[in-house]
Amino acid sequence: MSRSEMMNDYSMHTATCGELRAADDGREVVLTGWAWHNRDHGGLIFIDLRDRTGYTQIVVDPDCVSADEFAVAEHIGREYVLKISGTVRLRDKDAVNPDMATGEIEVLASGLEVLNESVTPPFSIEDGIETDETTRMKWRYLDLRRPEMYSNIELRHRVMQSMRRALDERGFIEVETPILANSTPEGARDYIVPSRPNPGKFYALPQSPQQFKQMLMAGGIERYFQIARCFRDEDLRADRQPEFTQVDIEMSFVTEDDVIDMMEGVFKEVFNAVGLDLEIPLQRMPYAEAMARYGNDRPDVRFGMELHDITDIVRDSGFKVFSSVAQSGGIVKAINAKGAGDWSRGDVEKLAAIAEANGAKGMAWIAFTTSGEEKSPIIKFFTDEEFAALKEAMDVEPGDLVLFAADKPEVANAVLSALRLHMADALDVPREGHSLLWIVDFPMFKYDEDEKKYAAEHHPFTHPTLEDIDNMESDPLSVGSYAYDIVMDGYEMGGGSIRIHNADEQRRVLRVLGLTDEEIDDKFGHLLNALSLGTPPHGGIALGLDRLVMLLAGKDSIRDVIAFPKTSSAADPMTGAPSAVTARQLKEVDLRLL
Ligand code: AMO
Ligand code: AMP
Repeated sequence: MSRSEMMNDYSMHTATCGELRAADDGREVVLTGWAWHNRDHGGLIFIDLRDRTGYTQIVVDPDCVSADEFAVAEHIGREYVLKISGTVRLRDKDAVNPDMATGEIEVLASGLEVLNESVTPPFSIEDGIETDETTRMKWRYLDLRRPEMYSNIELRHRVMQSMRRALDERGFIEVETPILANSTPEGARDYIVPSRPNPGKFYALPQSPQQFKQMLMAGGIERYFQIARCFRDEDLRADRQPEFTQVDIEMSFVTEDDVIDMMEGVFKEVFNAVGLDLEIPLQRMPYAEAMARYGNDRPDVRFGMELHDITDIVRDSGFKVFSSVAQSGGIVKAINAKGAGDWSRGDVEKLAAIAEANGAKGMAWIAFTTSGEEKSPIIKFFTDEEFAALKEAMDVEPGDLVLFAADKPEVANAVLSALRLHMADALDVPREGHSLLWIVDFPMFKYDEDEKKYAAEHHPFTHPTLEDIDNMESDPLSVGSYAYDIVMDGYEMGGGSIRIHNADEQRRVLRVLGLTDEEIDDKFGHLLNALSLGTPPHGGIALGLDRLVMLLAGKDSIRDVIAFPKTSSAADPMTGAPSAVTARQLKEVDLRLL
């Protein structure tokens, strides 16, 4: 059987709305679908009948159907569900629609049945609508009828299937892990679920299957994957949902290079499966280089506008804002936004709000107009030599706007990386195609200023680099790790690491993070036990499936590639979740609301 025959098997129809072509001229067909656009043309009724595969023009001629059927056809509204029997015929030459896949033909109805009526839909079932997103989510089934939404969901399916195939071919087996579990620290707040048989005790929904996949390696599974649902109670953004999906992967007896090479083969297969090419091996950029050149660890490398460190040039300058930062251990960095040199002072000053939102105290700038003027409140503070060195470092030409950040390195980088992306949008800097690269050589720890303690840069199960491991206690920030991220088009699409497989080393890392031995045994006793019972060396990665599909679909929100996403307040307007529970339900789990 052909794919088309299989698709139409077990159906009320004999063809789909997207498949008929000129070669089908004369074919008797039965089509089912939704009345999309209906037109009454002097006695003839035209209906665009739509299903997920496309749409076909139906002609209802009073001479070809019964009087009753014609009367029904006259009252068909938008989104009525119809079953049409008829004959495929070629359209007149001047009626051929080259923009429509089925535009060479139409179906002359011989029978018409309304399978269901529809009240007027709250928004139009069309691509490119500007309906407010909460409304789209409240009637998500209508939103899913829009062709662009169907194609996003189908793309997601293609990606998942090709992922499964590529991993299966490489010997990975799919294993499910619990949803009712204990907390796994991935840096977010847990969703907790009370346990009725254990009053006062709670499960945590998994932020990732991290500990279970390590247990599977301890269990000799050797190559595991799972298309896994993860739950994180964190502030939501366009690329973050409270529940999201990871392609979660773990393998035993491997090094960092092995995981990276294997994944590149998988990425290539997935790209090919959706009609794209991918050149491998991918670029690998050390974390320190990403921070220096782009100010963050998920750089969009499809355009330049890189950050330059000009601390040495301005260290002794008369501009106190810069020299005092430079002399007190801070840095002064700048970007050159080519093409913004003629912006008005007002427009440039508005950018300071972006800098300030990222922690800056101000945003110095120098504009080089296309007519050769140099405009800025700060030029007067520099000597001719300093100014010449600055222009050279920033590769300045007429038409450029140089933006500065002077601060602690973290702040200066955050400010300029935000300004870099903002200016690329504002100046319509082309960012075509996709770029994938690895960020490698992450530090093991970072210092959390709010909590006043060390935190894991990736997670606490990541293996510190062998050469640094003994500096862990004396100088945690100097310790490197075998962690890696895969970055796509400026998004962190995935991340992973080689794990610790030695119980003593795991305990040492947890101690550096400020846990007492008692807490370690309480929270991670099962892991330490497994590590002391012959856990093999292992490592893995998790890909954010929603982000990958979003980028492949050319969207800027993962909500567009999730069938039933949640709003920014983690609610589902369609079902009304989350909702109140009864007093009895609360009592059963031994809880009382405050
Ligand atoms: P990590 O926390 O980096 O690693 O998560 C892996 C990937 O999951 C995606 N992601 C999200 N996508 C949508 N909404 C969210 N709230 C969200 N949070 C994360 C990102 C991210 O790169 N256990 C480790 C992986 C490992 O070490 O193997 C982990 O979960 O694309
Ligand atoms: P001021 O001398 O404070 O008036 O600042 C002169 C210019 O330097 C203004 O454009 C400020 O926005 C800018 N500025 C102040 N602090 C910083 C900083 N930390 N980094 C970059 N520019 C700054």
